[in-house]
Amino acid sequence: MSVTTAIELISRGTTAVPAPTSTCSPALARDPWAFDALPMPEYGPGASMGDTAPPATPRQGELPEEYRTASAPDLDRRIRAAKETLGESVVILGHFYQRDEVVQYADFVGDSYQLARAATERAEAEAIVFCGVHFMAETADMLSTPQQAVILPNLAAGCSMADMADIDSVSECWEQLTELFGSEPDADGRQPVIPVTYMNSSAALKGFCGEHGGIVCTSSNAAAVLEWAFERGQRVLFFPDQHLGRNTAKAMGVPLEHMPMWNPRKPWGGTDEQTLRDSRVILWHGFCSVHKRFTVAQIDKARAEFPGVRVIVHPECPMPVVDAADEAGSTDYIRKAIDAAEPGSTFAIGTEINMVNRLAAQYPQHTIFCLDPVICPCSTMYRIHPGYLAWVLEGLVEGRVMNRITVADNVAEPARVALNRMLAVRP
Ligand code: 13P
Ligand code: SF4
Repeated sequence: MSVTTAIELISRGTTAVPAPTSTCSPALARDPWAFDALPMPEYGPGASMGDTAPPATPRQGELPEEYRTASAPDLDRRIRAAKETLGESVVILGHFYQRDEVVQYADFVGDSYQLARAATERAEAEAIVFCGVHFMAETADMLSTPQQAVILPNLAAGCSMADMADIDSVSECWEQLTELFGSEPDADGRQPVIPVTYMNSSAALKGFCGEHGGIVCTSSNAAAVLEWAFERGQRVLFFPDQHLGRNTAKAMGVPLEHMPMWNPRKPWGGTDEQTLRDSRVILWHGFCSVHKRFTVAQIDKARAEFPGVRVIVHPECPMPVVDAADEAGSTDYIRKAIDAAEPGSTFAIGTEINMVNRLAAQYPQHTIFCLDPVICPCSTMYRIHPGYLAWVLEGLVEGRVMNRITVADNVAEPARVALNRMLAVRP
């Protein structure tokens, strides 16, 4: 059963729903366009609904009524017909966290790194419809050809973590670090600081890294990227995800006391000169509200109930959770581990619920469940509904490109430098 169906049944008070039997917000059962017209931007119901969406967060205009009122079978018929008409001229990409109702139409489903690569490999497609979130669509735009249009079906599908670091506050932090360390390399030719941005960040921050000798990483290559950065720098400024930065650097042997946190809302990031001088990795005060939900207590409970359970979590989880798990890895790592396991294995997974439920359905020979007992999807990924997909596809059939994501050349150029450095580290 898909997450959406389960949410609908729960909200209607249906009792015959397999566990989990509760959702983090009953508003999840509402259609996402109910949130498009709100006076302030917000992430909508789901894991990041408690986070504040910055005023500059892209807003989705009103979805035409015919798509808001169409039934699910009608939308299904229209999406399939539009896809058929468009043929090879359109490619639909879907992230692992996307709801099943949308993923079923994707030509390619993958993690953010694989989808970035997929965007480069379908040069014949005039349009890339990206059923993921905003930073992924921006990356696809920068890696695809200028003739290709990258479309995000709902502009409100951002990423609350990516929004926790913006170009102004990172530039301000950089100025302060430059004031402290200068910009001259040491005797070994290593720069004072190398900026490393997680893929989950705006194109502007990727551009910042490209311009300042830095690089992009994803959760599948973070260790290799940090190695690259340590070869070139005395320390790293890692944004926006403190947890990925801390978990990766810790696994590489960097002591926690050499990983201060930079909180952009505090003077000097809330740290001090000596701590910064001693640092190896300066962590940005950002986090993912989906992965923040996982706890050590959930792992203890899974182990008590399922002796021998294999616990795998995403490295965006807090450090104690990663330490208590058997393994940590990107979404694709999790998928591959399950794929390679002996039939009859039991997995407790610490990542987004849509992906975990899909894996459970795809691998019935295993027992697979989410560590978090409450259905609480990534709020922003969940903003993409088949209604928006039908709208953008039918627009393409009529020759109209809606919700195109374009990154200005002056940003895309340096961002590509940082992305290509990453692709060269681990193609
Ligand atoms: P992946 O890089 O593993 O696809 O993860 C993306 C993401 O947003 C995780 O929260
Ligand atoms: Fe962003 Fe977290 Fe959603 Fe990933 S799961 S897109 S990091 S909010």
